[in-house]
Amino acid sequence: MSRHDPVLSKETVEWIAVGEAPSGNYVDATFGRGGHSRCLLERLDASSRLLALDRDLTAVTAARALAERDARVIPHHGAFGNIAAILDEVGMSEVQGAIMDLGVSSPQLDDSERGFSFRSSGPLDMRMDQSQKLRADTWLNEASLSEVTKVLREYGEERHAVRIAQAIVRARPLTTTIELAQIVAGAQPRSTPGKHDATRVFQAVRIFVNSELDELRAGLDGLFPRLVHGGRLAVISFHSLEDRIVKRFFRSHSTPPRVPREIPIKNRDIVVPGRIVAGPIRASDREVSQNPRARSALLRVLERAA
Ligand SMILES: C[S@@+](CC[C@H](N)C(=O)[O-])C[C@H]1O[C@@H](n2cnc3c(N)ncnc32)[C@H](O)[C@@H]1O
Repeated sequence: MSRHDPVLSKETVEWIAVGEAPSGNYVDATFGRGGHSRCLLERLDASSRLLALDRDLTAVTAARALAERDARVIPHHGAFGNIAAILDEVGMSEVQGAIMDLGVSSPQLDDSERGFSFRSSGPLDMRMDQSQKLRADTWLNEASLSEVTKVLREYGEERHAVRIAQAIVRARPLTTTIELAQIVAGAQPRSTPGKHDATRVFQAVRIFVNSELDELRAGLDGLFPRLVHGGRLAVISFHSLEDRIVKRFFRSHSTPPRVPREIPIKNRDIVVPGRIVAGPIRASDREVSQNPRARSALLRVLERAA
């Protein structure tokens, strides 16, 4: 099984497992290969429980292997967009700390059969959950020109969305990652130094196929209310679309509502559900030099305050 170097793992765990002897229910909503989970388990006492969730079946196999060695681990296949139902299913009515380390893992990128990378030839799949119906090729071959343009523009922030979408539609049916990468390269008026032409398009299609932004909103909405008072939610994002959602959620849950002057309410009676305790935290130069994926990572931590 290929490995994944966890990003900002020490910092993340220090922020969510606080105090001398952290104990209770914890959630790793993006288990991957368990880098964050293992680091967290080192801090937790023997009575703690850790929900090891991932929508990728290969990641869940890794979580099951860890659960065989550590009885505190509860492996689970599912999407964090359904976190409230999953927590009910595993009997966690409240949570002391949770981690969401967003995006794809290195094993997903490295396996050409998964279709996430434009650097190696593979089927245009891009599903994080292999049991999901919608694949990238089905969508790219059937979507209308305006749908493809919209996705490239919104989820890839691609300036040449129209030209690229037109080239995709002309070249259909598409079957491989390399085909898509070549179509994108051919449709770009000029390339951006240091950035592969296909980066934004692959990001856009992946986000769409996996409903990543809706999942993120639903995951935040589902996890935050389950935190105990003083419980913490740590989110690591890798691009501005994700970070914008996290930042807005954290701000709206940590800012007192504006109350019109004429409403007679005292400041102390206004309930603010959360408190931002950390972030944005970036990886150190040292970590980035050892793990280039860490370059764009931003860690933010929200604490349940009421
Ligand atoms: C960056 S990796 C996490 C790596 C992990 N922290 C580690 O140390 O190995 C992101 C993982 O989250 C999973 N994932 C992404 N979106 C998800 C979702 N909505 N629900 C559950 N898992 C998700 C992916 O399948 C992937 O395995």
